[in-house]
Amino acid sequence: MSRSSRAVASPRAVCIQDLRPLARRRLPKVVFDYLDGGAEGEVTLRENCRVFEDVTLRPRHAVAVPQCDLRTRVLGLDLALPFLLAPVGYSRLMHPGGEVAAAHAAGAAGTAYILSTISGHRLEDVKAASSGPVFYQLYLMGGRSAAEASIERARIVGFSALVVTIDTAVAGVRERDVRNGMKELISGTVFSKLPFLPQVLARPGWLASFLLDGGIRPLPNVVIPGQGPMPLVDIGAALAASTVTWADLRWIRDAWRGPIVIKGVLTADDARHALDAGAEAIVVSNHGGRQLDGVSPSLRALPEVVAAVNGRAEVLMDGGIRRGADIIKAICLGARAVLCGRAYAYGLAAAGPAGVARAIEILRVDLERTLRLLGCPSISALDPSYLNLPDWAKSG
Ligand SMILES: Cc1cc2nc3c(=O)[nH]c(=O)nc-3n(C[C@H](O)[C@H](O)[C@H](O)COP(=O)(O)O)c2cc1C
Repeated sequence: MSRSSRAVASPRAVCIQDLRPLARRRLPKVVFDYLDGGAEGEVTLRENCRVFEDVTLRPRHAVAVPQCDLRTRVLGLDLALPFLLAPVGYSRLMHPGGEVAAAHAAGAAGTAYILSTISGHRLEDVKAASSGPVFYQLYLMGGRSAAEASIERARIVGFSALVVTIDTAVAGVRERDVRNGMKELISGTVFSKLPFLPQVLARPGWLASFLLDGGIRPLPNVVIPGQGPMPLVDIGAALAASTVTWADLRWIRDAWRGPIVIKGVLTADDARHALDAGAEAIVVSNHGGRQLDGVSPSLRALPEVVAAVNGRAEVLMDGGIRRGADIIKAICLGARAVLCGRAYAYGLAAAGPAGVARAIEILRVDLERTLRLLGCPSISALDPSYLNLPDWAKSG
C-alpha cells in the first residue's frame, strides 16, 4: 500500500467526515476554506447536510439480500454506482493531480466525472485519464467564442454530456475566502499577496508540490480567440460578466448537439424552463451552499422539481451528500443519481488520487451495507416506501 493510500485507509478515514481533517492538515488555510466553505452565513451549506436527518428510513427486516445491485443509468450511460463526481473548480490547487486524478478514480470505479470550466488540466487530458464517461460543465466566462471553442474540443474528444450551471449570475460571497485573501493570492500583485503568505508557508509540503506543478496557471479550457488561455484574474468578475440565460441555451444547444444537463435548479418554474430549453437532465443544486445563502437545502427542493418534471427528464441532485444513506434518501425521493462535491474533494486534498479512490470506496461500501440493512436488493428498487416522509416531502 502506498504512503498516500495508508494516509486515508481505515481506521484513519472510516467515513467521509474523517477525510475533512486530513485535508485541512495538508492544505493551507486559504485553499482548505475555499474547498470547505460556503456563502455568507453558511446557512444553506449547513442545512444541505442537516436536512438528511429529517428523513428517516423504513427497513424491511428478515430479508436476505445476498447481492446488492448498485448500478443505475444516467443519460443512457450504465454507471456502476448511483453517484457521479461533481464539477469542482480549481481542483489542481488541492492536489497537482487535480481533475485528471478525479476523472481517473471515477472511471476506475465505473462512474462519471464532471469537469469544471475552471480546471487546471486540459479537457483532452482529463478525458484520456478516465475509462468512464466524462461530462463538461460550462461557464460562459471568456465569452461565447471561447465557450464554443471548448464545446467543440469536448465534442471531438468524446465528452458524453454538457452540464450548464445556471446559479452563478455572480459569484457568491464566501466570506472565508475574502478574509484569507483568496483573490489576492490567486491573481493579485506580489505586494497584495504579502499579508496572506504566512498561511501558505505553514504548509511546506503542499507549497513544494504546488510550485513543482508550476504554480498558478491560466485556464487551459477557456481559450480566448487571439489571446490564448484566460488568466486567473478575478474569476468572480469574469462570472458576473458572463451570466448564462435561457436565451443562451439556444446557441449552446446548436453548438453541442449532445445531451444537456441544467445544474442549479431549485424550483418547479426553473425546472419547466430547463425542459423547454431541451434539457435531458436537471441537477437540483444550490452549488453546495456557495452561491445564494438562505435558499432551500437541495434535498428539500427535490420533491418539487421531481413533481414538475414528471418523468420528462432525469432528475439528479447534489448538496450535502456525505454518506451512502444520504444517496439512498435522495433516490427514494425521486433522484436518478446524485453528484458528490466535497465528499471526494476532501479525499483529493488529503491524499491525491488515493484519496479520491478512498472517498468513492467509502460511499460504495456504505451503499451496499445500507441497502442490505434496508432489505432492498438494488438501487432501482428504491422508492418512497423505504422512508418516513416529513410533510415537505409529501406535497411535492
Ligand atoms: C470547491 C468547490 C468548487 C466548485 N466549483 C464548481 C464549478 O466550477 N462549477 C459548478 O458547476 N459547481 C461547482 N461547485 C459545486 C459542486 O459542483 C456541487 O454542486 C456541490 O459541491 C455539491 O455540494 P457538496 O459539496 O455538499 O457535495 C463547486 C463546489 C466546491 C466545493
